[in-house]
Amino acid sequence: MKAHQKGMVVWLLGHSGAGKSTLAQMVARQLETDGYRTLSLDGDVVRAGMNSDLGFSDADRLENIRRVAELCKILLEKDLIVICSFITPMQSHRDLLRQTLGDRYLEIYLECPISICEQRDVKGLYRKARNHEIENFTGIGSGFEVPLHPDLIVPTALWQLEECAGQIYRLAISTQS
Ligand code: PPS
Repeated sequence: MKAHQKGMVVWLLGHSGAGKSTLAQMVARQLETDGYRTLSLDGDVVRAGMNSDLGFSDADRLENIRRVAELCKILLEKDLIVICSFITPMQSHRDLLRQTLGDRYLEIYLECPISICEQRDVKGLYRKARNHEIENFTGIGSGFEVPLHPDLIVPTALWQLEECAGQIYRLAISTQS
């Protein structure tokens, strides 16, 4: 681990299919290669375990984010760079994160038109949502507010993955000097 690593939360948010998990993995790999200690938290993984009691109502999404924010606070005490990938659809979620994590929180909006996310439909979830097999799907049966104060906007539909990861990586390490 770098001698003077400072704990940070790099929070990637955006629609399902915007590239959160892929970019989180790329950035984590690069940081680890460069000697930083990281820990990744992903919506699907957290919801399969720690938050398996939660669904996708407004209240459950808020509780999902609140619990992850509290976990991040604990992990920051170990000076880790925590990379989080969650849809985080409401501005109130992001306000809560900033309130909980303060200047250790970096908000990164992966901007991708929902039409493109739906075209990609990597997990087949948009198709299921259109067929009413999934309720409250973000962007279809449930809302997504454009972030008001992101630290970085990454247009994932326009840039190559490497370019997107590079921008996030540079912002993350700019907090370390
Ligand atoms: S949230 O809104 O921040 O609490 O969501 P998150 O914890 O990131 O979980 C998103 C992943 O859950 C799967 N999934 C759904 N997403 C959105 N809406 C509904 N109704 C839903 N049902 C299941 C989906 O795999 C999401 O992962 P990503 O990586 O975003 O595609």
